[in-house]
Amino acid sequence: MTQKKTKKTTGRKKAPAKKNTPKVPTEATIVEESTEVYTTPRRSIAFIGSECYPFVKTGGLGDVMYALPKALVKQNCDVKVILPRYKCIPWKYQEKMIYKGAFDMNLCADGRSYYVGIMEYVWDGVVYDFIDNEEFFGGEKPYINLIDDIPKFCYFAKAALAALNYMDWIPDIIHCHDWQAALVPVYLRTLFEGTRLSSAKTILTIHNLRFQGIYNIPTIQYWSGLPDYVFNKDALKEGYEDANMLKGGLTYSNVITTVSNTYAGEIQTPYYGEKLDAHLRYHSNKLRGIVNGIDYDIWNTYTDSRLYANYDITNVLDKKKENKRNLQEELGLVQDDHKFVIGLISRLTDQKGLDLVNAIIPEIMDEHTQIVVLGTGDAVYEDSFRYYENAYKGNICSNIMYDETRAHKIYAGADALLVPSQFEPCGLTQLIAMHYGTVPIVRETGGLKDTVEPYNMFSNTGNGFTFDNYDAGLLLDAINRAKTLYFTNRWCWDEIVQRDMDKNFSWDNSAKQYKDLYLELTW
Ligand code: ADP
Ligand code: GLC
Repeated sequence: MTQKKTKKTTGRKKAPAKKNTPKVPTEATIVEESTEVYTTPRRSIAFIGSECYPFVKTGGLGDVMYALPKALVKQNCDVKVILPRYKCIPWKYQEKMIYKGAFDMNLCADGRSYYVGIMEYVWDGVVYDFIDNEEFFGGEKPYINLIDDIPKFCYFAKAALAALNYMDWIPDIIHCHDWQAALVPVYLRTLFEGTRLSSAKTILTIHNLRFQGIYNIPTIQYWSGLPDYVFNKDALKEGYEDANMLKGGLTYSNVITTVSNTYAGEIQTPYYGEKLDAHLRYHSNKLRGIVNGIDYDIWNTYTDSRLYANYDITNVLDKKKENKRNLQEELGLVQDDHKFVIGLISRLTDQKGLDLVNAIIPEIMDEHTQIVVLGTGDAVYEDSFRYYENAYKGNICSNIMYDETRAHKIYAGADALLVPSQFEPCGLTQLIAMHYGTVPIVRETGGLKDTVEPYNMFSNTGNGFTFDNYDAGLLLDAINRAKTLYFTNRWCWDEIVQRDMDKNFSWDNSAKQYKDLYLELTW
């Protein structure tokens, strides 16, 4: 497919920015990039998912549900994002929502019917339609436990489709995200077959294969009201007595995507496949990987009002010191420009390789090193990071909290960011880190492998430090290689910083790939 740009963007240099001739992102290039428009035919897309920044976010899914629709608007797409209207969405957004209508919908196998309200909010060219039902979405958090969440997301998937029919908005593509929206393609090809909506093609994007929405068949069959025949081993049935909502969605969707090429390959293997590897291999002809980007309006070192000092590629080396000093002061760390500050911003779960980090903290810590952790999650990790903060007072700070502002400050103030994940479908923290001139230290898996080119000391190329096998010794080795370069060859380290800031992680390229996919499906 040929695409014409109405405006040409400035070509980005691949070579490292030379010390004396750095590439300066001027206001003009920023504006030019953000107004880039492709003249491919218009398509309408309904995005359906369970979280979206800034309304509700627990991880990268929320970032993508916000940034990708916005980027698709620039690719000549008409986008509606369908979300649950959780009670925990801040009031400043709730009060701006406009009531678009309501109806009753049959949900369960016994025909029990439920209220579906539609509340709308329009922002940055994207229409957000919130499905309103206090019984399902009245909790304090978006996800509670499977006993509550299974009925909630059966309801959500069906209500999202019913709402599109009610609004008479028939999209070309229905783009669903993760297990919470995975029943959408199943409903569309069963109970909604024959409605106008059934002309739409469906895409299911896997952001994290670990979560699948598995429960016993009678429960899912009751709540979803889906016909018996979908509970067979090629669709929802798993093992002898369980139903798997994600598996059903994978079967019934026209295309499956995931958020990096490497992860698309990995999930077809037993190690990463979370017991769905055979199913994914069977459907591999409709599976592909498209890597995520980051939102350049939110993540912009030049304009980010949360930073102590703004910067660009020309003054990052000085301003990073200023950000580092202020971060150290705010967090009660020893204030010293010369310390190597390692950041870790993460959900504190097994996925993120935190057992490796915990195992080697005493080896990482020397008089030249500090660690700043920001995250919440499993008690075992929250407690161990608290313990280490106490054991290394003044040099380790564990922020056991969710705090967007603090995250921005750490991305700007740290020298390196750790992402040693067991598996990582894409990962956004390493992208944000690089964009903020913070060098990533990552395990070569999933999107981390696709986005961080390992530093090569002979050719002086690469963007970060990497290790392959899931092994604490190898992580320590990668950290030590990073430290060695930082302390013994700062010139080369600074070049990595500038190369990282110079790399393009905006959504433009990936949004274009999604648009091509939409066109391919609807041509
Ligand atoms: P995942 O979706 O697996 O959690 P990603 O790297 O894709 O991982 O996305 C994580 C997102 O959540 C990033 O935007 C990151 O900055 C943010 N984040 C994670 N933990 C915190 C926290 N404790 N406070 C603020 N932001 C956080
Ligand atoms: C998931 C993955 C993460 C990915 C994010 C957005 O939460 O764990 O790797 O970046 O989704 O796609």
